[in-house]
Amino acid sequence: MNATSSQRDPAKMEKIVSLCKRRGFIFQSSEIYGGLNGAWDYGPLGVELKRNIKDYWWRCMTQLRDDVVGMDGAILMNRAVWKASGHETTFSDPMVDCKTCKRRFRADQLDSIECGQRPSKTPSTCGGELTEPRAFNLMFKTYVGPIEDDSSLTYLRPETAQAIFAQFKTVLEVSRKKLPFGIAQIGKAFRNEINPRNFTFRSREFEQMELEFFVQPDKGFEWLEYWKEERLRWYEAIGIPRARIRVLTVPDESRAFYSKGTYDLEYEFPFGIQELEGIAYRTDYDLKRHQECSGKPLEYFDEETRTKYIPHVVEPSAGVDRTVLAILCEAYAEEEVKDEGGKSEMRTVLRFHPRVAPVKCGVFPLLKNKPELVVKAHEVRDLLRPLMTVFYDDAGAIGRRYRRQDEAGTPFGVTIDFETLGEKGAEWKDTVTLRDRDSMKQERVPIPTLPERLLSRIR
Ligand code: GLY
Repeated sequence: MNATSSQRDPAKMEKIVSLCKRRGFIFQSSEIYGGLNGAWDYGPLGVELKRNIKDYWWRCMTQLRDDVVGMDGAILMNRAVWKASGHETTFSDPMVDCKTCKRRFRADQLDSIECGQRPSKTPSTCGGELTEPRAFNLMFKTYVGPIEDDSSLTYLRPETAQAIFAQFKTVLEVSRKKLPFGIAQIGKAFRNEINPRNFTFRSREFEQMELEFFVQPDKGFEWLEYWKEERLRWYEAIGIPRARIRVLTVPDESRAFYSKGTYDLEYEFPFGIQELEGIAYRTDYDLKRHQECSGKPLEYFDEETRTKYIPHVVEPSAGVDRTVLAILCEAYAEEEVKDEGGKSEMRTVLRFHPRVAPVKCGVFPLLKNKPELVVKAHEVRDLLRPLMTVFYDDAGAIGRRYRRQDEAGTPFGVTIDFETLGEKGAEWKDTVTLRDRDSMKQERVPIPTLPERLLSRIR
């Protein structure tokens, strides 16, 4: 994939947005009041998908490694943190105002966004008079306590990373780790984006999965390469193949000021190629600043080399919402299939990797007015439910029920029928049909083997 191969597909994006709403993945926040620009709510399926992504990241970062521990920092922090990190003075986008329509735009997007005038134009072409660019700080201000003045001012965090830097020494001591080691965190962050857009891609409230990995000063670039490969493997494991991710070496002029080297992992969304994750070699910038500004020593004594230094940091920083969106885009497919009676029809299917699928297995009694089938189907549901998310559905024709689960991305479907009851021969008793979402093939399997069969494919 390269920049020129980017195929925009607004029609596909519209279908995905509509599916997300219709099936309960993602809704606009405060929708009954007209919504709030840049804020989204995850519905019943969306919250499961998102949780599965976060859980898998957490498992890979902490449980499966010896050299990373976790933490969960507060969203509100002392304002001094944001002075020290540089966010208060430099975390801004250049913006321009249109004197004609009174809207505000990012100066670097004047050619690429719609300005709201009809017929649709961009701010550069609509003829409105634009001001010179001015810096607009992206942090949301808030006040701590009852008095709203400068002394009580702080911000909603624009990145989770600073909580890790501020607690670096404490976490190091309590976990008794030695370098190289990392601290992982998942949490909300907030940026007052001038133009939130592309569904959930650029939101004002979003979630990050960040690892700050502390290394010896001369090992930064080595670990940058290591984490790039590790992160590509992770995306592959959740259903975004390596070939679908472009690794961009961020050029000097575009890198954050604290970084000596950054890779962006980019995905080809239907609205263009955009960043999923940044992997930055942040040097010792943050710890050094916090040591200077707090007056507390943040150095590390390296017993191997008998030297003291401020560790350097490599940071893989991924957006949870962006990963959810990439997975939805990657999984979305429409295809012509034959229905149960052999007639052609179109189906929409989300081909989620079973690991992240919100519902793992649908359980269907063939008929709902046959009590023996219902009792057996409840037994199967209760067998699977402690192990995975199960959706029990007895409403309508079986083909319709399969389609509903295809659209929700459920990888497996189990149907309890007359064979299960032993009515078609003793050899079929206590067997069910297991349907595969992607191939739509069905096999007959004994009920007791279901848990292991499904778990081995989900893992
Ligand atoms: N911590 C890096 C970022 O939020 O972009």
